[in-house]
Parts: sequence; C-alpha cells; structure tokens
Amino acid sequence: MFRNFKMVSKVVFGRGCFAQLGDILQEKRPGREAVMVFLVDDVFENGRLIDRLPLNDADCLIWVNVDDEPKTDYVDRLTRQIHAFMADRPDALPSGVVGIGGGSAMDLAKAVSLMLTNQGSAADYQGWDLIRQPAVYHAAVPTLSGTGAEVSRTTVLTGPRKKLGINSDHTVFDQIVLDPEMIADAPDPQRFYTGMDCYIHCVESLTGTYLNSFSRAYGEKALDLCREVFLGDPADGDDRLMMASYCGGMSIAYSQVGICHALSYGLSFVLGLHHGIGNCVAFDTLEAYYPEGVREFRQMTARRGIDLPRRLTAGISQEQMETMLDVSLMLEPLWENALGKNWKTVMTRDRIRDLYLQM
Ligand SMILES: NC(=O)c1ccc[n+]([C@@H]2O[C@H](COP(=O)([O-])OP(=O)(O)OC[C@H]3O[C@@H](n4cnc5c(N)ncnc54)[C@H](O)[C@@H]3O)[C@@H](O)[C@H]2O)c1
Ligand SMILES: [Fe+2]
Repeated sequence: MFRNFKMVSKVVFGRGCFAQLGDILQEKRPGREAVMVFLVDDVFENGRLIDRLPLNDADCLIWVNVDDEPKTDYVDRLTRQIHAFMADRPDALPSGVVGIGGGSAMDLAKAVSLMLTNQGSAADYQGWDLIRQPAVYHAAVPTLSGTGAEVSRTTVLTGPRKKLGINSDHTVFDQIVLDPEMIADAPDPQRFYTGMDCYIHCVESLTGTYLNSFSRAYGEKALDLCREVFLGDPADGDDRLMMASYCGGMSIAYSQVGICHALSYGLSFVLGLHHGIGNCVAFDTLEAYYPEGVREFRQMTARRGIDLPRRLTAGISQEQMETMLDVSLMLEPLWENALGKNWKTVMTRDRIRDLYLQM
C-alpha cells in the first residue's frame, strides 16, 4: 500500500505576506459575528505583532505559553476556554483557528482545531488516524523554521503516558502563511536548534530504508538549503530556511525520521527538553549511525558558536532511564526506517541505554 497523504491546501510565501492574512481569513468568515480564534505564542505579547494581527471585534485572542512543549491537558484547557467563549454567540464553533509561533504554537492550533469538533481529551487521539470528525478551519504562521510542523499531518503532544502525535489527514493545516520576515528576530541558539531539526529530518529521511524518490527530491533540496544557511551567510537566509523547513517536512511525509528522533522523544518526555535542542544533543552521539551527517552537524555547531549542553543524563534515576527507554522504543516506525525490519536485533535496550548515558 502506498501512502495517500493529505497536503496543505493553500500556501502563500514571500516577504511581507503576513499582511495578507486579514484578506485570507475574511473569506472564511461567514458574517460579522463570526469568530476567528488566534493562538499566538506569548513571546510576542509585549511586542509590535499585536498591532498587525487582523483581529475583528468578535475574535478571540489567546496568548499561548510554550515554556513546556504542548501537553494534552493544555490542549483540553484551551478547547474548553474556546467553547466557553462561544457559549453566548450565535455559532457553536469558531470559523477558524490561527496558530502563530514556532512548532509548539502551530501544534497547539492544530490540536485545538481538532478537539473543538471531536469529543473527549486530546490524549484519546494520540496515535494514527483516530480522529473521526474534520477539524474547524485552521491556519498557521510560523515564526521559527525547521520543524516542518507547518506541512505535517501530526500535532506532537505529551500526554499522561506518552509523547506521541495526533496523526491524521484532518490535522493538516488548510492554509499556511510563510513570511520569512516573521522569523527574522528569532534568536540563536533557538533559531539554530529549530533549524537543525530540519537538517536532521533530512539526514534521517535520506539514509532511511523507507526512502523513495519523492522523499529524496524534497530531502536533498532541504539539506542543501540548510547547508547554505548554516555553513554560509546568505542575505536571504531566512527565506531559504523557511523553504528548507517546508521541504524537510515534505520529505518525511513520505518516509520517516530515525534514531535521533526516537531518542529525542525520550529526552523530552523525561527531562522536558525541547525538541530542537533534544535532537541536537542526541544527534551528537550518533556518529556510528549517521557519520557524514554528524560530522557536518558538528561543523555547523562550531561555525555558529553553539555550546551543546552535556551530562544531561548523569543524575537521572533508574526509573527515569527506564521510562526514557520505553518512550523511545515505542516509536517502532522510526527504528525500522533507520535500521530495517530486523532493527530489534541491532538496537537492544542496553545499546539505547549506552547512547542515553553519553548525553
Ligand atoms: N507537528 C510536527 O510535525 C512537528 C515536527 C517537529 C517538532 N514539532 C514540535 O514543535 C515544537 C518545537 O518547535 P520549535 O522548535 O519551532 O520551537 P517552539 O515553538 O517550542 O519555540 C521555542 C521557543 O522559541 C520562542 N519563539 C518562537 N518564535 C520566536 C521568534 N520569532 N522570536 C523569538 N522567540 C521565538 C518560543 O516562545 C519558545 O520559547 C515541539 O513541541 C515539537 O514537538 C512538531
Ligand atoms: Fe523533528
């Protein structure tokens, strides 16, 4: 069976295109009372962005906090908040949800748009194709580039027992607004860590057993763009990084990520490490599996003056280590993509423990 996957229906790209967001959303508002929900990363709360948001009087603006990566109970709380906001309005549901921020804010927007139309808790839907009802219209404006969350069919959530996405065709955004000016002020090291998420997506996709020409085409392009951005200093680096993220996301849509991501999910679940930095820490230990990729990654790290945190697992308890191993081993498709169908004979629990102990 070949994957028949849903893609983002509408894309606008270009410097300054954020100014078009108002017109784009206007088409989705059935009337003056229609409510658009804006979920915006609270890092922008005291900046100039608020003056540029195309807010109507009826709209609902929620500043979302992503100090912790998105959790299922946070998604449930936001969903309840929006239902309460809608309670005394003519429509039961908002006309749309717009996420503005990095991968975390975009994932929150995806998850909330799904949970507005699906009963229960977001935790009930962590997995593959468990969502039954289409989401409300949802759009995204990335302010960091690298995760590929703008194009993927998942929203990655940490639940009570696992870190796992809500993967479904309904998760995919209806609209993305790719404005390189929106990532211009993202500071290092965050910009670097999120950019490396894209670089690692490409290395894992291009060296994986699931690779096909579709994934290769996007993966190679994204890898080249990452090299141009992080080993050079092109004037249009933000434009290139934004397209790298898009292409990297498209590459893994038809393949899969690999060992680094499997390890990084365990790190995030137990230590609360954010995805980009967790990937960098994990990737640095994987020279045996991705020799060229890791060498080039170290060049980029040195060139950008990035100091990776060390000895993260030194003080953890036995129980934490076992949880980390459980979370990582749950991600079977990632291991299989990296190491083939017989991956369990190559990658034992002890081998993974050794890798974690190097971090
Ligand atoms: N859905 C997917 O396909 C997918 C893929 C990979 C990762 N993810 C998820 O994405 C998240 C990681 O996303 P990320 O790396 O983009 O970072 P993020 O969204 O977690 O943000 C990291 C930090 O940067 C800040 N920030 C965002 N934009 C900024 C800007 N322009 N200027 C200054 N600060 C800014 C945020 O407030 C936050 O403090 C994780 O939750 C991960 O699980 C999702
Ligand atoms: Fe990633």
